[in-house]
Amino acid sequence: MQITRLTGVLGAEISDVTVSDTMPAGDFDALKAALLEHGVIAIRDQTLTPAEQLAFVRRFGDIHFHPHVQGLPEQPEVMEILKTEAETTNFGSDWHTDQMFLASPANYTCLYGLEVPTSGGDTLFACMRNGYRSLSPAMQKVACGLKTLNRSVASQIAGRSGSNATTYASMRAKEAPVDEPLAEHPLVRQHPETGEPSLYVGLHSIRLAGFSEVESRPLIDYFITHMARPENTCRVRWAPGTLTIWDNRRVLHNAINDYHGQRRRMHRITVMGSPTTAYSEAA
Ligand code: SIN
Repeated sequence: MQITRLTGVLGAEISDVTVSDTMPAGDFDALKAALLEHGVIAIRDQTLTPAEQLAFVRRFGDIHFHPHVQGLPEQPEVMEILKTEAETTNFGSDWHTDQMFLASPANYTCLYGLEVPTSGGDTLFACMRNGYRSLSPAMQKVACGLKTLNRSVASQIAGRSGSNATTYASMRAKEAPVDEPLAEHPLVRQHPETGEPSLYVGLHSIRLAGFSEVESRPLIDYFITHMARPENTCRVRWAPGTLTIWDNRRVLHNAINDYHGQRRRMHRITVMGSPTTAYSEAA
């Protein structure tokens, strides 16, 4: 297995390995260790049916079902992300971490490239851990005292009198209630395996607990912009057969919408997580 770092802070590309539910434990452990170390891994040259992708991903934990997008009819655990040649809106085109709008957000996301544009359609990643570490001590202290309130994109769209199903017309998207309960999370989250802090905020964060939306917006935008600085990111260029796995407790991602007129089709599976905990230096 060849592991090559993508940038100074984040991401690795992996080749010369074939993933499966029966791959040797040593190889699987090496993949998991790379994921924990680099936050996101792009494994090249895989050939996976939905059932094979699912069998592999089950090794990471129980499967999480997206509440607002149905899975494939023949494999409900697998969600298809599709933008056709005729569409201009894509799914996931802003900085976010998966299922942050739920009390127990997804631990991992595993995205498999089936059809990708000849150019464009890359996915950007930003390191939430380095985002926290690179704040001044005074700002770290402020951030540690804050909590975010989060809402799904589907519910945000409904709040603007829009329709999730229409926005993502080629996907099996469902509607969400405008009054979907908000999920509260610490702004600085502790990674349950490494104990490291992460600045946990993104597209789903609509305000800070105790603050109005107008007061919250500049702060939320500041933290996201701070994390999205170029030196804090990496970028995955897709090819058919690329399988990218990321740790939603450590990275934000952003699907770049720069390929109008071309088709992009991916299969996504997410792994269930647990309630978030606030970072404590002492832990
Ligand atoms: C997502 O899971 O947000 C979509 C990522 C992508 O399509 O690159």
